[in-house]
Amino acid sequence: MRIARRVTNLRSYVFAETSKTLATLQAQGVDVINLGVGSPDLAPPSWITDALYRAALDPSKHGYAGYYGLPVLRNAVAHYYQQRFGVELDPEREIVALIGSKEGIFNLALAFIDTGDVGLIPDPGYPTYALGVIMAGGEPVSVPLLAENGFLPDLRAIPRSVLQRAKLLWLNYPNNPTAATADLAFLTEAVAFAREHDLLLCYDNPYCDVTFDGYVAPSILQVPGAKDVAIEFNSLSKTYNMAGWRVGMAVGSSKAVEALARVKTNIDSGMFAPIQEAAAVALTADQSWLKDRNRTYQARRDIVLDFLPAAGMQAAKPLASLYVWARVPPGETCAEFSQRLVQATGVWLTPGTAFGVHGEGYVRIALTVAEERLREAGKRLRRLVASPNTERSSQRLAE
Ligand SMILES: Cc1ncc(COP(=O)(O)O)c(C=O)c1O
Repeated sequence: MRIARRVTNLRSYVFAETSKTLATLQAQGVDVINLGVGSPDLAPPSWITDALYRAALDPSKHGYAGYYGLPVLRNAVAHYYQQRFGVELDPEREIVALIGSKEGIFNLALAFIDTGDVGLIPDPGYPTYALGVIMAGGEPVSVPLLAENGFLPDLRAIPRSVLQRAKLLWLNYPNNPTAATADLAFLTEAVAFAREHDLLLCYDNPYCDVTFDGYVAPSILQVPGAKDVAIEFNSLSKTYNMAGWRVGMAVGSSKAVEALARVKTNIDSGMFAPIQEAAAVALTADQSWLKDRNRTYQARRDIVLDFLPAAGMQAAKPLASLYVWARVPPGETCAEFSQRLVQATGVWLTPGTAFGVHGEGYVRIALTVAEERLREAGKRLRRLVASPNTERSSQRLAE
């Protein structure tokens, strides 16, 4: 048996590896506080789960549900984009449903990248952007996101020789992992840049409705003419607390949507119809509950920002996303710090380099656990700083 080189050369998905490490610690009796994964811990509202249940009782809804997403779901996506962003979409040509946006992010590369083509990838960034490009035989080229630029890329610094080979430019705001946001002025520049260099601008927007302090995140499609050059990925995972359901959408350029759909329809057979119907309910129902849900995350954000300085760490106050991007104390790499932290205290934070080399010096703290667990994590961090040689045995369940 000989595994393909593209798989033997492939690093394990960082979050899959971490869950093994954390399971081992738990089996040893460590009370792990996992602030690693951005999977919402809160439930979707009852009208969404009720819609799923009702549809699942219908015997006619258990077959293959078609390829592009049921019309009810694509119409609901169009409704949502109209209400939320004032963007008009043609459900037939400008929307395709995804089995979670990760699926579409990966498959988009198969639709656009030929051997040797370049995909421009934000670094640090969500790992699947680069992975898709690699699997399609292309070359991911990092575009650094630096603190001094507000974690926005300096597009004009990308060398001409790279731009000549580039087909895709990935952008993601509100950003994972840095939690930075981008305004419409930057998005307008990015659309102009994509047009100038004949790039498909891939805008990943799953955190657009996880926002704080009154901030409202834009869509790339609000930029006039963006549909000529841009495709936007969105997801119900974070907005509606539905990460395990696997529902997302790609919207925008009809050419890009059609190319992605052509790849997808040859690979998968769509989503369970009751999930699509419930997703349509999520997108079209009254959205005012999101304010309370976001207040929950905002309170968690504030707890984290409160305890970080005493732990020798600094972070900017994020206006959106599920994360705080914090500088690690000086003197060790982020990987060394997060390993020492988890071994000594059972608190897991994702090292910034899991998202690319420019993540060095940072850890990502996910706001996906309850307030009392965040406070407990803060206590443990402070204790680690106070006595750096703390043994892990002191953090056992009996604590
Ligand atoms: C920036 C970003 N894009 C895409 C995804 C994928 O989301 P999903 O596949 O659940 O829609 C995630 C998930 O964490 C993410 O952080």
